[in-house]
Amino acid sequence: MLYPKDIIAQAVELLQQGELVSFPTETVYGLGADATNVDALSKLYAAKGRPSQHPVIVHLFSVEQLSDWAQEIPPSAYRLAAGFWPGPLTMILKRNDSVLDAVTGGQETVGLRVPNHPIALALLKEFGKGIAAPSANRFGRLSPTKAEDVRAEFTEQVSLILDGGPCEVGIESTIIDLTGPSPVVLRPGMLPVGEIEAVVGSAVNFAAAGANLSTRAPGSLPSHYAPSKPLYLVPTASLAAMIEHCCDRGERPGILTSEASFTSDVQLARVVAEHDPVIYARRLYSNLRYLDNASCDCIIVESPPEEKEWDAIHDRLKRAAADK
Ligand code: TXA
Ligand code: MG
Repeated sequence: MLYPKDIIAQAVELLQQGELVSFPTETVYGLGADATNVDALSKLYAAKGRPSQHPVIVHLFSVEQLSDWAQEIPPSAYRLAAGFWPGPLTMILKRNDSVLDAVTGGQETVGLRVPNHPIALALLKEFGKGIAAPSANRFGRLSPTKAEDVRAEFTEQVSLILDGGPCEVGIESTIIDLTGPSPVVLRPGMLPVGEIEAVVGSAVNFAAAGANLSTRAPGSLPSHYAPSKPLYLVPTASLAAMIEHCCDRGERPGILTSEASFTSDVQLARVVAEHDPVIYARRLYSNLRYLDNASCDCIIVESPPEEKEWDAIHDRLKRAAADK
């Protein structure tokens, strides 16, 4: 058996050889490639089935590496890094000229993040360079939150999967664009926006829904983070009617609802949702994966509370429910 140190050494060697290595972060599992190696990056895009103009996040070990990747870095970036790194925050900054187009999708900006996971940090430290890593799922599908999710999705394309157990946060990092006159959240995550605003010292805007962000952030395409079965997001009051509607159409529903709101006598694949948004997020993708693999034809999700702690969860559920 390899000791963890040996596994990290093996992962570093594979990255140096231009191979793909999957590693855990606190948000979701990443599919990593050497961010300075064009061939490794094209292998990465091919494995994911991702269009080449979509940028990937570069993962770093320390804030000290920021200036290797970005220029004209605003003071707010350093304040955010001090406040939230390592952690589930990705910053979009003006890229250095040396950053490959394959990383940025040819844009003038680069996404950077220091993840908060001991295995990711050990790997990044040993490797020394940036690791480009999108979530380790095929384009448009659910992000993986366990090593076995990655294994189920990729077989021969990924040389090594580092198993760090289930991810703590469970949904992808908050992405904040710092290249404009004021910070804009491109993708909400589980970091409370109020905390970000307190560190930045000003209000933070959200990218307008429907804004033309399709090339900037594929996570902002309407249908993304989706199971393979149709997913219906419905308010509590319409749950019973929706279950009946599916049954009438001959579709067996699987459901994700809170304990209290479930009253149907129909035999259903079911997951009981958590009341705490932090735990709900942690389990969201594995709950959806479970229902995607269960014996049901569609997935009904009870719409969670409308409070702001649930914003990122609503964002992912809406995308999962969008027509493909
Ligand atoms: O939590 C996370 O962010 C995970 C873990 C592995 O770190 N990564 C992740 O990567 O979610 P990915 O590629 O699945 O989503 C990254 C998002 C994409 O929507 C991408 O377009 C956006 O970040 N992005 C990356 N670079 C960008 C840039 N320069 N400008 C705008 N958006 C960017
Ligand atoms: Mg992704």
